[in-house]
Amino acid sequence: MPSETNHLLLEILLNPHPSLRDDSQQTDLVSARSDFLVDHFHAVRQRSLRIAAPLSPEDTVVQSMPDVSPTRWHLAPTTWFFETFLLKDRDGHRPFNDDFEYLFNSYYNTVGKPFPRERRGLLSRPGLSEVMEYREQVDEAIQRLIEQDSLDADDRRVLEIGLNHEQQHQELMLTDIKHVLSCNPLLPAYENPGDGLGSDVIDPKPSDVTADWLELDEGLEWIGHEGHGFHFDNEAPRHRVYLEAYSIANRCVTNREFIHFIEAGGYRRPEHWLSMGWSWVQSEDIEAPLYWTRRDGDWSQFTLHGLRPLALDAPVSHVSYFEADAYARWAGHRLPTEAEWEHARANLEERCPETDAAPLGNWDQQVWQWTQSPYTAYPGYQTAAGALGEYNGKFMCNQFVLRGGSVATSPGHIRVTYRNFFPPEARWQFTGLRLAK
Ligand SMILES: [Fe+2]
Repeated sequence: MPSETNHLLLEILLNPHPSLRDDSQQTDLVSARSDFLVDHFHAVRQRSLRIAAPLSPEDTVVQSMPDVSPTRWHLAPTTWFFETFLLKDRDGHRPFNDDFEYLFNSYYNTVGKPFPRERRGLLSRPGLSEVMEYREQVDEAIQRLIEQDSLDADDRRVLEIGLNHEQQHQELMLTDIKHVLSCNPLLPAYENPGDGLGSDVIDPKPSDVTADWLELDEGLEWIGHEGHGFHFDNEAPRHRVYLEAYSIANRCVTNREFIHFIEAGGYRRPEHWLSMGWSWVQSEDIEAPLYWTRRDGDWSQFTLHGLRPLALDAPVSHVSYFEADAYARWAGHRLPTEAEWEHARANLEERCPETDAAPLGNWDQQVWQWTQSPYTAYPGYQTAAGALGEYNGKFMCNQFVLRGGSVATSPGHIRVTYRNFFPPEARWQFTGLRLAK
């Protein structure tokens, strides 16, 4: 019979997209029992290996564009994080390889000069097996620290950030490998192991996607994270915003609707586009969302399962901020602000009976949704001291906030206050849109 700890873990692993409610039940890792912490640590770490498992060693070293990192690379800096921030300064710690401090530093200038991101694909060594050995050594050392009760409250907070960091990389592993495989003319399928990992084929019935508007009154509202459960620093402090009355769509824009935009000449008419967006469309020859192809009048989409006919009633995915904004203008509406999105999502949660998750629809389980909000600091935001202060704050320039979560988001990593962010031209993530007016 499974213990309560194992039962909880099993639930986390088997439920690929828990609703917001599940996050309120998150165990506090700072005060968790050691055996729970060990199990949770390994469960998160092993998920990365399960994502990598269907790939050949050759698959794991390709970098198909500067934004994409090779899978083998993803497996290393997540490990580097635990070694650098929890192991390195402890008596008796012997690094697996002294060169890894430079090689797998993603962007922490406080730690040292990072290896250039766009050159990660040039690293044929260390090989995959060596990175796996690195992971094993660090995992064993972390497990020992937990079991010996050697992690104080601050260390446990760092461990918690490290696990959330690993989950962020898990989503990137899936989106990056999708891009890598899409560049191969054979269009190979990722072949997920069939346990909810990496399935980006969503095919709802037309009746499941009835369009409606949720109307919300004007008022002074609270947004941002406060209280129980993990959150990243950029989700706080909780603060008030004044919202004018607004309406927000009950669901995301679908592929079928986006085809109407294309057929209406959406990509050829500059009046729908921001100036930078129009330049981007022209210079990059953009005619459809990423991964779409058209043969004999029918659209197909490259997925983690290979090339598939486009599911017309699925939410449109792999669109940039520019495309999302142009679609919204063409449709006579606009993108929501992140405060509107969060307020509406929280409001909807309150309205739904505890047992009825259906009205929450595809708010946070299918595609990240572009908002019109630039990614900036909340009032009163302060970066942490030291290297971990580099985690979020320094990226608050030239990016837009996305809300929700996607088919690739790891279990337990979705929150109503979660702020994802990407530059406006990025579209290799699972990114779509929801309209507002
Ligand atoms: Fe990272």
